[in-house]
Amino acid sequence: MAATLLDGKALAKKIQAELAEQVAVFTEQTQKVPTLATVLVGEDPASQVYIRNKIRSCERVGMESRHIPLPADVSQEALMEEVQQLNRDDTVHGILVQLPLPDGLDAQPILDAILPAKDVDAFHPENVGLLSQGRPRYLPCTPHGVIQLLHRAGIETAGKHCVIVGRSDIVGKPLGLMLVQRQSGCGPTAANATVTICHSRTQNLRDITKQADVLIAAIGQAEFITADMVKPGSVVVDVGINRGENGLVGDVAFEEVSEVAAAITPVPGGVGPLTVTMLLENTLRAAQHQAATQTESA
Ligand code: GUN
Repeated sequence: MAATLLDGKALAKKIQAELAEQVAVFTEQTQKVPTLATVLVGEDPASQVYIRNKIRSCERVGMESRHIPLPADVSQEALMEEVQQLNRDDTVHGILVQLPLPDGLDAQPILDAILPAKDVDAFHPENVGLLSQGRPRYLPCTPHGVIQLLHRAGIETAGKHCVIVGRSDIVGKPLGLMLVQRQSGCGPTAANATVTICHSRTQNLRDITKQADVLIAAIGQAEFITADMVKPGSVVVDVGINRGENGLVGDVAFEEVSEVAAAITPVPGGVGPLTVTMLLENTLRAAQHQAATQTESA
């Protein structure tokens, strides 16, 4: 294998240790513990794994979590009431409703109902709007994780061609916004990219991906990116998590692309651990912000 491995697991551990120190200081100063509420509707096994991971990660950095499991046949109104209750609860700083919701539930009004100050996923239209104007309240977790991974590995995006394959609201679109701006969560060298977002209707996809200095795969199709789509010496970031017969695989054909790229993220152990870590960071920021506004209004 030629490519350097970008080890998200090790980096997540390091950032979580930094966060744990900040959480301890916050708790000492305010007597409050940053608290994340997680709402899981139904029993999708993958979602259960993600939620368990989020709860465990909270514990690891000294945060609290409040888990609200709801049956798959919960009504839209009852789910909305749970969110409203969490909005009113001063001991809850961040709210996460795990997606996808089961069939029959409409996610958009639920996500829109989360108070923007508690929207640690950064999905609320107000937070998306602030991000698009370059003045984010919270950075979306997976895109921020990708940028942290590149930045802390010493890989600059400024002036580079970053090609994102996938236009989802959770990854592709917000990551494109963050990379094209003058600043990111990690300064100007981790922003200022020339960005191309490709999707299922893109023509001559391979011609575009071959131009990428940094190629980010966020399609949701196992091993979609093959070696012939990758420029030799480029950096390849795999956001995909696909569950198949061979366990977890990413959106990148790891073995063959590793022979062409200069650096690559593995699946698992690449972007995934950083997504959770950025969620913890947002929850701490939410707690800090809410403590400061409560002090002002006291
Ligand atoms: N499902 C898959 N990724 C995510 C995420 O980042 N946030 C939420 N709430 N649900 C998800």
